[in-house]
Amino acid sequence: MTTHGDHHQGQHAASGHSHGAGLAETLTLDSLILGQYLEQATELAAGLVATVPATILDIGAGSGAGTVALAQRFENANIIALDKSAEMLAQTLQACRKQGLDGRVSCVLADLDGPWPAVPAADLIWASSSLHELADPEQAMREMFARLNPGGLLVVIEMDSLPRFLSAAMLEDGTGLSALEARLHGALEQRHWNSHPDWRAGLQRAGFDVLEQRTLPTVGRSTPELTSRYTRIFLGRIREALDGVASTTDLATLDRLLASDGPEALGQRTDLEARGNRTAWVARKPWAARATSYRATVSA
Ligand SMILES: C[S@@+](CC[C@H](N)C(=O)[O-])C[C@H]1O[C@@H](n2cnc3c(N)ncnc32)[C@H](O)[C@@H]1O
Repeated sequence: MTTHGDHHQGQHAASGHSHGAGLAETLTLDSLILGQYLEQATELAAGLVATVPATILDIGAGSGAGTVALAQRFENANIIALDKSAEMLAQTLQACRKQGLDGRVSCVLADLDGPWPAVPAADLIWASSSLHELADPEQAMREMFARLNPGGLLVVIEMDSLPRFLSAAMLEDGTGLSALEARLHGALEQRHWNSHPDWRAGLQRAGFDVLEQRTLPTVGRSTPELTSRYTRIFLGRIREALDGVASTTDLATLDRLLASDGPEALGQRTDLEARGNRTAWVARKPWAARATSYRATVSA
């Protein structure tokens, strides 16, 4: 992941955030294990919406974790999920279908680095772990502002840090793995993984009133098997990006953890614990702002 600007194109590929089954599974496991933030953030939004939302946009919906949470929280709303990946949108629809929510969910395939599609004006827009992926986030803020009804809410969520799994884990010789995980994350920072600014000033420049900025720490709640699977998938994804930025010693340790067997392999461990940390910004389009009407061209 990265922010906008000159670095964007090259580091996007390096970040490992290409589309595909790997990313979809990572996102789905994250929501199953660390998804408490979805309850916290939708509750926060529910407490700040001016009217019961009829239309919600999910920007960069991914595999649908937020779309499902929004449809569950706002029972009368129609949710429009936008993403540039047809594969992700198929996952979103499948996730909604599993929960019996697909009747209120439609998908729009759109690359939001280009012209934004026409969609109905929204009462709530949700952009979770997606704003930093767009080439021009401040332009995206203006596009979202234009698509909100006056008084409507924008919720932007970002990960403050990469998920952690090794806080309590140890090597056979008793060395704790927490420091290794911190070094690996530090190395990824050099590659601008998960890099994003504090969005407050940008939101204000786009015309929003920022109502809340809240950190949402989460501790995983799931089975050891799922936690182990998420740990292996996540550390496997970051392994691809660490060559040349992490030390050879740390890479060798990581490879032992990722091995399919062996006393230190992740699959054998019972000392893994997922932890995440996100920030949510909740911003309102002022009531006095002019509503822009867009013709609906939404396909189910
Ligand atoms: C890290 S995922 C987050 C998914 C989901 N919101 C979540 O929180 O689980 C980012 C999503 O943004 C989408 N995305 C990235 N750039 C995009 C663009 N230019 N236009 C539309 N979607 C984009 C990706 O396809 C991906 O599904």
